[in-house]
Amino acid sequence: MKSTKELLAEMTLEEKAALCAGLNMWMTKGFEQHGIPAIHMYDGTNGIRKTNSDEEMGVTGENIPATCYPTGSAIGSSWNTDLLHELGVALGIEGREMGVELLLGPGINMKRTPLGGRNFEYYSEDPCLSGELGAAFVKGLQSQGVGASVKHFACNNQEFEKIVTSSEVDERTLREIYLSAFERIVKKADPWTVMCSYNLLNGTYTSENEHLLNDILREEWGYEGVVISDWTAVNDRIRGLGAGLDLEMPGPAYYNTKAIVEAVQDGKLDEAVVDRSAARIIELVRKTTEPKAEAAASSIDYHELARKAAVESIVLLKNDNRILPLDSGKISKVAVIGKFAKQPRIQGAGSAKVTPTRVDVPWDEMKNIVGDKVEMVYAEGYPQDDRIDEQMIQESAALAASADVAVLFVGQPEYVESEMHDLDTIELPLHQQKLIKAVTEIQPHCIVVTSSGSALAMHPWVQYVPGVIHSWLTGQGSGRAIADILFGRVNPSGKLSETFPVKLSDNPAHMRIRGENGKLYYREGLFIGYRYYDRKELAPQFPFGHGLSYTTFAYSDLKAVQQGEKVHVSLTVENTGTMSGKEVVQLYVQDEECKWVRPEKELKGFAKIALAPGEKQEVVFELEERDFAYYNTKYNKWVAETGYFQIAVGSSSRDIRLRERIFCDFGQEPISFHKFSLVNDWLNEPKARVIFENCLKEMNKHVTEQVVIDEEFVGFWGDFPALKIIQMFGQSWLVDRSPDDVIEEMIAEFERQ
Ligand code: BGC
Repeated sequence: MKSTKELLAEMTLEEKAALCAGLNMWMTKGFEQHGIPAIHMYDGTNGIRKTNSDEEMGVTGENIPATCYPTGSAIGSSWNTDLLHELGVALGIEGREMGVELLLGPGINMKRTPLGGRNFEYYSEDPCLSGELGAAFVKGLQSQGVGASVKHFACNNQEFEKIVTSSEVDERTLREIYLSAFERIVKKADPWTVMCSYNLLNGTYTSENEHLLNDILREEWGYEGVVISDWTAVNDRIRGLGAGLDLEMPGPAYYNTKAIVEAVQDGKLDEAVVDRSAARIIELVRKTTEPKAEAAASSIDYHELARKAAVESIVLLKNDNRILPLDSGKISKVAVIGKFAKQPRIQGAGSAKVTPTRVDVPWDEMKNIVGDKVEMVYAEGYPQDDRIDEQMIQESAALAASADVAVLFVGQPEYVESEMHDLDTIELPLHQQKLIKAVTEIQPHCIVVTSSGSALAMHPWVQYVPGVIHSWLTGQGSGRAIADILFGRVNPSGKLSETFPVKLSDNPAHMRIRGENGKLYYREGLFIGYRYYDRKELAPQFPFGHGLSYTTFAYSDLKAVQQGEKVHVSLTVENTGTMSGKEVVQLYVQDEECKWVRPEKELKGFAKIALAPGEKQEVVFELEERDFAYYNTKYNKWVAETGYFQIAVGSSSRDIRLRERIFCDFGQEPISFHKFSLVNDWLNEPKARVIFENCLKEMNKHVTEQVVIDEEFVGFWGDFPALKIIQMFGQSWLVDRSPDDVIEEMIAEFERQ
């Protein structure tokens, strides 16, 4: 391809405008006369959804078969950046084989509530976890010459009326929670595209939102790639182009090409704006079509990789009396109950739904493991619909009673987890709850395997069940992975990427779950997920970061030291059990003395390590100033305050094993004074204090009620502006001057010094 400059010079305005919209559902336009090829983009987030024709949305039918990996919430629970990189590479290779130049993923929106219809597509409720996993995935994918599209930018956290709803989010919450994962990925992995969302953000569609696309994404984060619209998310094309929305999808959108040309001709749009977007799209085409040196030859066993990914994602939630793993040498009969044992749920619905190349079935995989040694019997357990079928329940219970152990496969029904609608409940269907109750009453050796892409409320039944495995929606390899975990062929190592509350109403967004008349206020602010449960001192059913293992790990020797701009943290983890296993070491930072409200603690690092029995490993983290900072809306920047912090490391957000208190020096916050600066502001800055003290000395000479700076004075008047102290006590002094004049002189003096 010629240089971008040359291409822009030889293309007509009409051609450049046309380039800014797709050719059809899945392609950009090619311009043979200029040597610009068309590129192809397909979903999605847990595998490739390539339609049979580029003219079709194909969102409800079958598409071209491709490997179906664990969905976002599942893979988020792997906490394994190496795995995410490996998956990225594999999808890049499979993508190239299938003619994909751009993959429409990963999805990294935060989980504000467990009812989000697309929660299954998203990694986590925490921006550090989502950002790190997303960056690893994008790097892997793009190393193979296939571009990523990080989506949905931003604040598309529900499906309900998303196209007509404005997410109303304050700036600090936006930066710290909802944009932070995007920022990490943009800065660490440079995704070739970012996909805007459908919704409005603080009153403006994200597809035309200057503040979001220009000020933050481009100016602050330095993003130079292409911003692409979600499918039909463009509304006002001219405004969108100005804000930095480069590529409209789907195309051809002739009407908008015409509108762009006319706007330039009428002087309403600068042609340079069209050139800017056209140039970015040309660069994208160049990157995705020019051969990549790093691109690996295809020798990957995709299905094996899908199994491996599933194993890493599945979470062992409960294991009382070490009911798991099952020992096929000690049991003679297993009752397998529940339709999902034979027809597993492996993914959610909507644009992310992949047509798998094959599917491992838990029942078959369990049978393969036990062979003839153990008898396996099956009951379907519950009907297809919501009916409560007492006979099925009784038959299942009787079958369970006849066996040594019962394994129940339950979960959210297939149709509830999908793009385009939210969930109504996070409880299992009533027929499944009754089934669990009936089986556990008769068979105490009971294991429940749950499938869902979002948090589940388990309070009606979990206390009766000794073993619970949350299998998420773990793709085409999930059947083998579940069977391997049940029988201890592998050691579970997934950790929850989102909090499982006791009940839905515990969730902080519960009071404002859907919004009203087009406005959805994120009034819980920073406090989503564990940030809320921690601060509220509310026990979840299973906390963020929780996940058991068949072995045990001991933590020791935590050290934290500030070295220049970094804080260096190290500790030792040892496998103290008898089985090899993986532990996810989680590092949280707690600000002890911030002036403003902050979450109790926030995840700032994690590492998944593999240890043989008796093996020890040193784990090291390097934290940066930003890891200690909050977003200060006064200065519109991230501020880390000098002071004491705690470094807390542990095995989950509620299982902190070691803490270290550390003083961090991040320098003095830049201080400036204004008319209403408080007494405390003046007193806390040494130079300003002297100025204020001198002022009071002068004032005291002229007034009867003396103002003395002592503990009582500061305790009472500390948060009152100095101006008002002068106004209150200095009336007989202020003959020729006003309180404002005095403060202005004090500020001028401070600035002179
Ligand atoms: C979804 C996107 C998806 C696009 C193309 C939209 O409905 O929101 O995530 O990439 O369709 O299928």
